Amino acid sequence: MSTPQENKIHKDLAPMIISGLQSSPRFFPSLLLWDATGVLTYERIMKSPDYYLTPTETSLIRLHADAIASKIPPNSAILELGSGSLTKTYLLLSALARQGKTITYYALDVCPSTLKSSLATLRHALHKHTPPTSITCRPLCMTYADGIAWLAADPSLTGQAVSVLWLGSSFANESRGDFQGLLAGIAGSGRAVQVLVAADGVKDGERVRRAYDTRDGLSRAFVMNVLENANASLGDRVFDAAKWGFEGEWDGEAGVFQTSICAREEQVVTIGGEEVTIGEGERVKVIASRKLGEGEVRAWLEGTAFEVGDVWRHPELDYCEFMKRCHFVLAMANF
Ligand SMILES: C[S@@+](CC[C@H](N)C(=O)[O-])C[C@H]1O[C@@H](n2cnc3c(N)ncnc32)[C@H](O)[C@@H]1O
Repeated sequence: MSTPQENKIHKDLAPMIISGLQSSPRFFPSLLLWDATGVLTYERIMKSPDYYLTPTETSLIRLHADAIASKIPPNSAILELGSGSLTKTYLLLSALARQGKTITYYALDVCPSTLKSSLATLRHALHKHTPPTSITCRPLCMTYADGIAWLAADPSLTGQAVSVLWLGSSFANESRGDFQGLLAGIAGSGRAVQVLVAADGVKDGERVRRAYDTRDGLSRAFVMNVLENANASLGDRVFDAAKWGFEGEWDGEAGVFQTSICAREEQVVTIGGEEVTIGEGERVKVIASRKLGEGEVRAWLEGTAFEVGDVWRHPELDYCEFMKRCHFVLAMANF
């Protein structure tokens, strides 16, 4: 049975789908990627030999887990945005356990089934951990925006410093403006906050294209599932998958891989009581994967309350993790 939070997420998606289809250029909200089917497919993509991001980031975290953990104070909270399968998170929590720290860990994700199963696996692994851990894990089934509102309001965080984790290069699916808006919400929460993001700056077009259009066809299935999820959110079979195809395009100059769904034929869809004509070959954007090197991440932080603290680099690829600190909270919280 759907949870109230899940129902709210689905209900919120219907107007977003309608306005996205009426926009120019047209787009589907990227949240449509992340239902239970989408997340399970993504977990398979993470194991695909073409998808370099997960093994690269896993080795980066493995290499630097103790150093990253040493930046997280004892008796503090961690809020992970888009927590997913939690395999990388476990490496970090394990390092915190070795350092004997008491931590409350909040896994935030929009997909309730993933949250439930990945947290059960994580709790089991932490339970068996040597040395024993003082890490309490809690689920938050909500969107990034709702999670940031929660960060400001939830009384359980009173007096606690919070480290926000944003792994998987997911922050770079946001536009620079949206990312900065979310950072402003985090900084404005009134908490002592720091943010750890993982950034992928790999700009080899062929390598990036392979990662987002894997040869096993999984990334195509992952993206096309948006149509099923849109139909579920709209409560009607508005989109016929047979009339649509996957489109992926690498823009080397901008450093962005844009994934879209393309109409194979002209079609009229009736949505929100209105008819929308979509021409043959027209693309509806789904998600942008931006490749940001270290200098670009620094540029994205200009004008925000954050500055780069520590940077951990991958020995071979342009793949970094940044710990960002919030200036004004820095003074208050000893971060
Ligand atoms: C690319 S996966 C990354 C998962 C994990 N952090 C990792 O690095 O393996 C993105 C995750 O964020 C979640 N997600 C995507 N957009 C979200 C949003 N707006 N609010 C909350 N969760 C979101 C998805 O359900 C998915 O589990």
